[in-house]
Amino acid sequence: MTRVEVLVAENGPNLIQVDGKVTAALCRCGQSSKKPYCDGTHKKIGFVAPADHIKVLE
Ligand code: FES
Repeated sequence: MTRVEVLVAENGPNLIQVDGKVTAALCRCGQSSKKPYCDGTHKKIGFVAPADHIKVLE
């Protein structure tokens, strides 16, 4: 069975993890020029947000 989780990176993107491998980094700061994907801009703007972990499906 496929296991899908969202790892919410501290001060960074939502990392979509499928069977233990990160398959996508989705922008959480709203400033990426490649939305919905993270392009690293969160580091330049000093985005601050807590980490979290969400299990979506197993
Ligand atoms: S979270 Fe990385 S660019 Fe928005």
